[in-house]
Amino acid sequence: MLVLGLETSCDDTAAAVLKDGNKLLSNVINDQSSIHSKYGGIVPELAGRSHIDQLHRVIEQSLQTARVELKDIDLIAVTRGPGLIGSLLVGVNAAKGISYGLDIPLIGVNHLEGHLLAIFLQEQIKFPFISLVVSGGHTDLYRVDNFGSYKILGRTRDDAAGESFDKVAKMLGHKYPGGPIIEKMANEGNKNAHKFPRAYLEKDSLDFSFSGVKTSVKTFINKNQESNVAGLSDQDIAAGFQEAVVEVLSKKIIMACQKEGLSRVVVTGGVAANGALRRVVALECEKAGYESWFPDPIYCTDNAAMIACAGFQKYKASPNYRADLLNLDATANLSLA
Ligand code: KG4
Ligand code: ZN
Repeated sequence: MLVLGLETSCDDTAAAVLKDGNKLLSNVINDQSSIHSKYGGIVPELAGRSHIDQLHRVIEQSLQTARVELKDIDLIAVTRGPGLIGSLLVGVNAAKGISYGLDIPLIGVNHLEGHLLAIFLQEQIKFPFISLVVSGGHTDLYRVDNFGSYKILGRTRDDAAGESFDKVAKMLGHKYPGGPIIEKMANEGNKNAHKFPRAYLEKDSLDFSFSGVKTSVKTFINKNQESNVAGLSDQDIAAGFQEAVVEVLSKKIIMACQKEGLSRVVVTGGVAANGALRRVVALECEKAGYESWFPDPIYCTDNAAMIACAGFQKYKASPNYRADLLNLDATANLSLA
């Protein structure tokens, strides 16, 4: 069974062809960072326009690489939310057009479900497990009992973890996206040079808050710029900040396992590409006797393979299901649980 996945929820135009749920034949991503980087964040209008320019080419390339034609495709899976509405609409409308024109079944996929299930491109994880979806827009902890069965255990009350990486990078004078830059700087810095605050919120809470650590970094940078009292480099600041975020994320994962009595952990989403997070979560899980999984970094950041994978699972669960072409809509604030 061949699934064509399409993803245009934010600033990546992506198409992928997936065979039988886990054989990835192509995974094409057109990254828009060069368009947005000079603005320090994503400009929604420019994102939507670039999807329109690029989607056709990206789909063609994904088919060519997979050595298949559109008429060979058995199912189209497209991200229908959450995300930027002007971006989502481009993918949803393209998918509807292909589906209608070639009479191919179409499924709308929640972007977060795509992230959450990305690991199934590589491993068939046994249910139930704890999932942390940590990206530029979300920091969500779920209990996952099956495909389609998700219970939210905690989420961020303010900034998403990835957003805080992006904002701290900007404070240090770097371009969007900031996560990979902070990680690189942190590798050259001393994570113990300054301890930034960790927000654990109320006892037992599985919610997150990253606006405090972000403000604390801002205040610290301002003071440090006036007089380099502490003698800290930008690399030390990046390392101290990353350490604070990683510690909170990993501790809350362990708390979630304890609360739910589960011993399997899957971490996905853009920030799951972060090496320090992967190392600390793996280590803490090992200490507690838990198992942990992380998709390869290319499947952590936005891609269409994960959307094809989630679409395949939804279709397998109910093969007669197909989206109502006229009513399938893009929903900017779509939630998963
Ligand atoms: O999943 P994603 O590609 O898009 C959203 O759905 O948001 O995640 C993008 C986020 C950005 O905030 C980016 O800075 C962050 O993931 N990110 C990272 C790393 N790579 C991407 N954060 C920390 N370390 C990284 N290596
Ligand atoms: Zn994403």
